[in-house]
Amino acid sequence: MSNIAIFASGSGSNAENIIRHFSGNKKANIKLIFTNNPDAYVIERAKNLNINCLIFNREDLYVTDKIFNVLISNKIDFIVLAGFIWLVPDNIIKAYERRIVNIHPALLPAYGGKGMYGDRVHKAVIDNQEKESGITIHFVNQHYDEGDIIFQAKCTVEKGDSPESLAKKVHALEYKYFPTVIENILEGSQFSD
Ligand code: GAR
Repeated sequence: MSNIAIFASGSGSNAENIIRHFSGNKKANIKLIFTNNPDAYVIERAKNLNINCLIFNREDLYVTDKIFNVLISNKIDFIVLAGFIWLVPDNIIKAYERRIVNIHPALLPAYGGKGMYGDRVHKAVIDNQEKESGITIHFVNQHYDEGDIIFQAKCTVEKGDSPESLAKKVHALEYKYFPTVIENILEGSQFSD
């Protein structure tokens, strides 16, 4: 059984979808949610789903080892970034090499990097008159959106699309694929017992 932690900064609809997917599943246990945002709706979702949620600040993540220590003491095997907008620090990257995945709401390597999250990504895609967008699930390294790509899926961008309508299409792909991609990685890995 692999213990999973999810990091989220906002609504947490992906976090909820992943939790629901794995509930009752013997291979994975979603043990903790972490958020940097005390106003994030993911906190409410965690409460409703009975998952412990830890709110942290920059110091907890980057200065002290507080978050790192919580991960280790809870025997977390695998980390999922689901709408998390801060960079993961080196100590966590090193301890969890190829055991942290992120979902990005566009087809990386395009439309990634610092500051590219949520509707900002969809607005840039529409402003550039792209015909396609989609999702990218990738391993996480020290740089924003640059780790090895694991999976991508596409959707079309229509002429009349707004950032909101494109976000809906992208979210649909995220809900469809993210949990099963995580499950496949866990099945192919050495770190579950
Ligand atoms: C998702 O679309 C995710 O791909 C995106 O934030 C949204 C979070 O939605 N992530 C990024 O932009 C990371 N650069 P949610 O909180 O409802 O799951």
